Amino acid sequence: MDVKIAIRTFDPGHQMSSSEQRALFELAMLAPSAWNIQHWCFVLIDEPTLRQQLQSAAANQAQVCDAAMLVVIVVDLMAWQDNPARYFDTSPAEVADVLGAKVLDFYADNPTLARDDAMRSCGLAAQTLMLAATVMGLATGPMDMFDEQKVAHLLNLPQNHVPAMFVAIGHAREENGLPRAGRLAYDEIVINNRFSAQSPYPTP
Ligand SMILES: Cc1cc2nc3c(=O)[nH]c(=O)nc-3n(C[C@H](O)[C@H](O)[C@H](O)COP(=O)(O)O)c2cc1C
Repeated sequence: MDVKIAIRTFDPGHQMSSSEQRALFELAMLAPSAWNIQHWCFVLIDEPTLRQQLQSAAANQAQVCDAAMLVVIVVDLMAWQDNPARYFDTSPAEVADVLGAKVLDFYADNPTLARDDAMRSCGLAAQTLMLAATVMGLATGPMDMFDEQKVAHLLNLPQNHVPAMFVAIGHAREENGLPRAGRLAYDEIVINNRFSAQSPYPTP
């Protein structure tokens, strides 16, 4: 099975309905996230002028303007601090409070882990969005070649929010640029139990 998920040339004449877009967002919202924090916002860019401004902030990549749908996935790096009991709202209130306190404790002294988990979670949200679109017969293209500061300014991002990724969605044009890049060898990627060389990590 071959699923090509990184498309760069889109049909600029294709349009998507708001109900199609909503269906995609509702599926992407089901993505897993660390502690169910759901660190993301999905910013739907449908103003042509803003698309053009984002395109110039993103190395003039054609898909930013050509795709029927452009989503900027924005990560809230401090979502873990934002009343975390609310991430467990299907639990009894006293359980949600305990779990919320655990979240605060988990990240309090570890901003690197907090950022890693936020970005990991947004990566999964992006992939969930892309797979949902693929199932709906659409093409997708992830991007992170953009100027973070310019994008943050254009989208009026609140404090502690940064753009994690763009996802372009639409119909692929038939001539679809370069053939897909090759993949590394199976045995380099799939490791059985542990690496064989001496590890630099000491016994904990
Ligand atoms: C985090 C991330 C950022 C990416 N940024 C871009 C980008 O800015 N522009 C682009 O054309 N492709 C981008 N890609 C797509 C990759 O280049 C692509 O997945 C990879 O080259 C494999 O290509 P293939 O799916 O055609 O085999 C990005 C992919 C990821 C996961």
